[in-house]
Amino acid sequence: MLQLSRAWQRSLLRLSLLGTLLIPIQYIYFPSITHIPPSPPSAMAPPPSPSDVARTLLASKGLELQSLQVLQSLWAGYGQICRITATPKPPPSSGSTSRTNSTSASNISPPHDPQSFILKLIAPPSTTTTTSSEGHIRKILSYQVEQYFYTTLAPKLPPSIPTAQVLASMNEAHADGTITIATILSDLKQNYPVAGEKREVLTPVQVHAALDWLADFHGFWWSRVGDMDYRTLVRPPLEEVHRDDDDAPRKTVWLNGGYTYLATRLSEYTTLTHNHSSEWRRPLTQATREQVSVSELIASILVPTEKGSGSVSAEYMTLLHGDVKSENLFTSADGKTVVFYDFQYTGLGLGVC
Ligand SMILES: *[C@@H]1O[C@H](CO)[C@@H](O)[C@H](O)[C@H]1NC(C)=O
Ligand SMILES: *[C@@H]1O[C@H](CO)[C@@H](O)[C@H](O)[C@H]1NC(C)=O
Repeated sequence: MLQLSRAWQRSLLRLSLLGTLLIPIQYIYFPSITHIPPSPPSAMAPPPSPSDVARTLLASKGLELQSLQVLQSLWAGYGQICRITATPKPPPSSGSTSRTNSTSASNISPPHDPQSFILKLIAPPSTTTTTSSEGHIRKILSYQVEQYFYTTLAPKLPPSIPTAQVLASMNEAHADGTITIATILSDLKQNYPVAGEKREVLTPVQVHAALDWLADFHGFWWSRVGDMDYRTLVRPPLEEVHRDDDDAPRKTVWLNGGYTYLATRLSEYTTLTHNHSSEWRRPLTQATREQVSVSELIASILVPTEKGSGSVSAEYMTLLHGDVKSENLFTSADGKTVVFYDFQYTGLGLGVC
């Protein structure tokens, strides 16, 4: 057993540069994410139910919903993660003309074991459409970023860097200002039955497998992020919400990949600055000799810059998973292969988290 927190951070730091050293080159295309819809306040229908959404999406693939189990409710009631099972839709009955041998036995459709999938449904309650808090904006953007990742970027990854595969997805903005973002993904638990859960329980074998996955992921994208159109990158929430979307190209992944970039957490930072009962206030927010806080200093080094800009960080810029933690991975039974999920904070960064 291993205390992952420390080992993880140390290894990651060591690995950040190492991991970025294995690379082929290929041009990549980053198309789009729909932007946050405007939000006219009005009375409206309740959010769609997970089973309705599952049925609609499955039908587009010739599948029928067999069962649905809610695994998790998302932040602030914004949606659900469900495990669903589905079977192929039986072919339409050819009518009563060919009932020559219709014993009860012959009516049983060929046995299809239900296939298991994961449905991630984002359907924030209508009351949130007028909210413009940093947290709300960040969440909505993050779900769109994640869907973009799964539908557009994940399929480019080689099998040696496994992620969930998309079966079907939808991203709809409704007239009443609400949105429905839904994605049906392969159920990783089928091949990776061991959940990472709390970091204390990961074994060294699992930790190394996780680091291998990250190294491969960072390495894969290292050469490719240079081809990204910077205008398509999603800005920090409070900036993004003021962008004029009419001319902007469609959005892709976060400019600031990762969960903790200062620019994406300005409200929390301000709160912390004034919170005298928090042990983190002084170390993180008080000005140093350089007249800025440690947080601001680190942020200025980590902030993603365009490749070739000559900044320290530009050379090592790659795509990050964005929320690396043991709760966001599954491993094979022997722990030797790992798969990460939860790509809401994927974006550019230095490959250190
Ligand atoms: C019905 O199907 C069974 C098994 O395929 C076959 O043995 C039998 O002859 C069929 N009966 C008719 C009426 O077609
Ligand atoms: C201030 O910090 C304390 C201790 O970490 C925390 O419990 C509290 O919720 C914080 N207050 C605010 C307003 O964030």
